[in-house]
Amino acid sequence: MTDLIVREVREEDAEELWRIRRIAFGGPREPEPRPGGNPYWPPEGFRGWWGLVAELDGRPAGFLRSRDYRQFFGGRPVPMGGLASVAVDPYARGRGVASALLDRALAGLREAGQVISALYPSAPPLYRGRGWEQTGVYERMILPLDLLATLPKPTAHRTIRPARPADLPALHDRYLAFASTVDGMLDRATAAFQLDEILELDIVDLVPGVDGIRGYLTAERPEGERLIVYDLIADDVDTAGKLLRSLASWAGVLADVSLRVVDPAVRDLLLSQPVLHDVRNHPWMLRVVDLPAAVAARGWPLTALMRPLSVDLEVIDEHAPWQAGRHRIVFDGDAVFCEPGGSGAVRLHTRALGPWYAGSADSAMLRRAGLLEGDLKAAALLDALTGAPHPVRMADSF
Ligand SMILES: CC(C)(COP(=O)(O)OP(=O)(O)OC[C@H]1O[C@@H](n2cnc3c(N)ncnc32)[C@H](O)[C@@H]1OP(=O)(O)O)[C@@H](O)C(=O)NCCC(=O)NCCS
Repeated sequence: MTDLIVREVREEDAEELWRIRRIAFGGPREPEPRPGGNPYWPPEGFRGWWGLVAELDGRPAGFLRSRDYRQFFGGRPVPMGGLASVAVDPYARGRGVASALLDRALAGLREAGQVISALYPSAPPLYRGRGWEQTGVYERMILPLDLLATLPKPTAHRTIRPARPADLPALHDRYLAFASTVDGMLDRATAAFQLDEILELDIVDLVPGVDGIRGYLTAERPEGERLIVYDLIADDVDTAGKLLRSLASWAGVLADVSLRVVDPAVRDLLLSQPVLHDVRNHPWMLRVVDLPAAVAARGWPLTALMRPLSVDLEVIDEHAPWQAGRHRIVFDGDAVFCEPGGSGAVRLHTRALGPWYAGSADSAMLRRAGLLEGDLKAAALLDALTGAPHPVRMADSF
């Protein structure tokens, strides 16, 4: 009989956590020395997080953490816990340690006000078993440089200059103006982000405008023949053209560009794509942690076109019992909210909640996947509220 407990992380766990994470994910055997400080604490790269440890027979055997993010849905940033570093000691695997961590994490997310939770799964069945479901994409495409040479020239004058530290707020404003229009993007404004880190990249170039900046490009030039582009954000076609043509200047030295697909308009509407090209997708999963709070937190822009309505749900959620049971989603002509009660006309499995909330899957898809049952008309209203189905995207991995 083994004794499994899950508790909050303490500083004295630091060395054991290093070991568990290193064995699970690889990395150097020793941490970087920190003169005068504990080399293991706080763990490298950890800011804006809380964590849990699973102890098996009195010894740390598993770990996870939640990072503090906000994710845009319907134009509003929703508090999201980004689960990461889920790791269990090899000897302890297959005994429910990760599942116990996830169960406790659900309560922790709710306490932390993280009303939804996203994660990049390497073991999807583990997270499905606890209610997360595939919802969005994180993509990179490989772009041969000679393709960029065929782009039309900008018709309006645009200049490029390198960014300075004083430009950081304007860069972030430009990012936010774009990101708030794409469901799934992070607002990059929580403690888990340090904006000034982008200035360490090899290329941080911007296109100034009359008032603020029109767009920017961040990229790294590693060894080898490929430029790694992070953000290419532009609020008009000439700015995008200017930034894309600046990438074209690498032809001759480099073979191609790995372009993080941040703005789908750049990839789909501005670039000409070869018939066959490589896109790498790292899909991510979403879970609703606190349904009433999550409904209140997101934006519902399509209700501007709607009359008042209500949809009655029955949620089946054995791992987050506080949101199981009957709810009524109401649009009263002004706001959308979720109140207890109703007839339970549509039955939603926990795993349906993430894709529904994000709008990535419509009710017909959820029904075919065995995640939704019940009244067709009520289910169609659920689709109408979010504008499902539409692509949902993140441009930051964790
Ligand atoms: C993935 C990992 C955290 C699972 O921990 P664990 O304690 O063995 O998980 P559990 O025992 O709670 O497993 C619960 C369910 O998850 C699923 N699962 C667990 N590991 C899985 C894997 N590697 N791939 C697919 N499914 C997996 C199984 O369906 C299992 O259900 P079962 O009991 O019906 O078989 C652990 O194997 C690990 O540390 N791996 C290396 C690091 C890693 O991949 N972390 C995940 C980062 S997203």
